[in-house]
Amino acid sequence: MATKPEFLLIGPGGVGCIAAFTINYNHTANVSIVVRRDYETVRKHGYHIDSVDYGKVDGWKPENVFASVEEASKSGIKFDYIAVSTKNLQDIVPVEELIAPVVSAHSVVVLVQNGFGIEKPLFAKFPQNIVLSGVSHIGSHNRNGHIHQMQSDHLVISAFENPNVDADSQVAAANRFIEMYSNNINKCVYFASAKWYRYRKLVYNACLNTTCALTGVDTGRLEAAGGLEAIAIPAMKEVIRVAKADGVELPDDVINVVCHADDGDYFEPSMRVDVKKGNPIELEAILGNLLDTARKLKVETPILDLLFKLLTVVQFRLKEANGYVGVPEKRPIPDTFFK
Ligand SMILES: *[C@@H]1O[C@H](CO)[C@@H](O)[C@H](O)[C@H]1NC(C)=O
Ligand SMILES: *[C@@H]1O[C@H](CO)[C@@H](O)[C@H](O)[C@H]1NC(C)=O
Ligand SMILES: *[C@@H]1O[C@H](CO)[C@@H](O)[C@H](O)[C@H]1NC(C)=O
Repeated sequence: MATKPEFLLIGPGGVGCIAAFTINYNHTANVSIVVRRDYETVRKHGYHIDSVDYGKVDGWKPENVFASVEEASKSGIKFDYIAVSTKNLQDIVPVEELIAPVVSAHSVVVLVQNGFGIEKPLFAKFPQNIVLSGVSHIGSHNRNGHIHQMQSDHLVISAFENPNVDADSQVAAANRFIEMYSNNINKCVYFASAKWYRYRKLVYNACLNTTCALTGVDTGRLEAAGGLEAIAIPAMKEVIRVAKADGVELPDDVINVVCHADDGDYFEPSMRVDVKKGNPIELEAILGNLLDTARKLKVETPILDLLFKLLTVVQFRLKEANGYVGVPEKRPIPDTFFK
């Protein structure tokens, strides 16, 4: 019997909301979403969408709107696909714990998130499940239920390699997802190696996002001030060395392409924007997991290590401001002998 798959999206920001809308557009699945911040508004009025791909749509809602993952779980629906497009904040809201209530044996998890090694905690908790990698090249924002999509949807899907599941089933799941997602407007394509794609993205993200986040400048000013050549490019070389030790050969001109990616723009990478707004940063996904891999492969990464240690302190500050950590009112005196 050909029943429609059940699709659940967690994290309907600009990217996630368009993903849910897209699948609902051609009714290739029953779509449910978990909305936390704007729940009351979305429940009552739906989303106002202004999209380069789909035009203006007022009051859009999918089949089901849930206030939490627990509520989605209580609905009794067995979700075939669980797409996660929240920020990946491993040190605050681990994805594997967030989704645990709705994951069943046959659920395919789709991580539409940035970063590296983000599949590992999922494989540890759900060793038999297929986890797909979704890298989104869309420009889309959500402001209180108003979605503004300025850049056409282009989603790159791969399977993260789960050693406990045969490779063919993983590729087949990726292709089924692409079929469900694709229409005559968007672009949703298969890419064989999630690992390659994500290392390639790190050449930018682990080096420019981090350096700009720490120094408080955009990539244009970073270059003008000499920080591109003094800090970011040496950091990129470390990413390339880790990738190589991990069996991934990046193109010879990758540094040049990344350094020219924002030509003509004083561009603020999103990690810099997060710090500016006082939001926690995706530190583990962008740097921490990479450095774990570097240690395992015995590749030295002194510049990335220092960037990580500095950003760990910045993250502490951001977490304290958002109530995730605190310090005692009176500063404790350690009995450490510092040397
Ligand atoms: C899709 O969702 C609707 C609304 O929850 C439900 O009535 C219907 O049975 C679902 N269809 C399938 C095929 O699961
Ligand atoms: C999806 O829906 C649109 C609008 O109704 C329609 O034009 C299109 O043919 C449908 N199918 C695909 C695969 O795009
Ligand atoms: C790094 O910045 C780029 C550009 O803003 C963005 O696409 C990417 O999501 C950022 N990644 C992280 C983890 O901040």
